[in-house]
Amino acid sequence: MAIVIAVAQQKGGTGKTTLAANLAAAMAPSRKVALLDIDPQHSLTRWYGLRPATAAKLTFSDVSGWRVTSELDRLKAGHDVVVIDSPPQIDTDARLAIRGATLVLIPVQLSPPDIWAAEGTLKLAAAEKRRAAIVLNRVPSSGKLRDSMTALLRRNGAPLLAATIGNRTGFATAFAEGLAVTETAPRSVAANELRALLKEVLESME
Ligand SMILES: Nc1ncnc2c1ncn2[C@@H]1O[C@H](COP(=O)(O)OP(=O)(O)OP(=O)(O)O)[C@@H](O)[C@H]1O
Ligand SMILES: [Mg+2]
Repeated sequence: MAIVIAVAQQKGGTGKTTLAANLAAAMAPSRKVALLDIDPQHSLTRWYGLRPATAAKLTFSDVSGWRVTSELDRLKAGHDVVVIDSPPQIDTDARLAIRGATLVLIPVQLSPPDIWAAEGTLKLAAAEKRRAAIVLNRVPSSGKLRDSMTALLRRNGAPLLAATIGNRTGFATAFAEGLAVTETAPRSVAANELRALLKEVLESME
């Protein structure tokens, strides 16, 4: 049975699309991977449109509304993994994505509004009885902010992943070419961080 990773967070600009694209492309050489874009902004669709024919194959689909569940079922039938990129709001489509998920992956940047917004997504995942995990994105390598915000999340019992992603320009560079950082710069810090995240995400679902 396919696993479904729904990348969700009601706050905009936290890295949902970036992580959905990078995780999917990083898995593509070893697994049958499908991407489902349910965000009307369609940035993932644009990314996929730029993807070179020579890059590892991914199935791509974009749907909205009542078709989300049936499309997800269709993709699950023919793939090992489905990665869903969702819109920056909790609407019906995002709920359907969370309902269909094996894991709800919530990117959070280290600022109070991001952390507060994650609480809404966590509540929704809990209401749907779905497992959720928070990945800290664009994290500074050290400093007071990192320590205080991480402590705040831990105090609140947030399901924090150990893997974090730093603020790396390589993500935008790769995105502009329809690729992942593991494809454009496989030895970069960004690629190492992404592989560590992927490993932890996959292990958490075993
Ligand atoms: N780890 C990172 N390092 C540097 N830049 C990043 C990182 N993650 C995301 N970004 C940048 O942040 C911006 C927002 O990222 P992205 O579009 O993935 O967020 P999003 O959550 O999908 O946004 P939206 O809510 O609008 O769909 C983009 O310009 C992206 O390149
Ligand atoms: Mg997005």
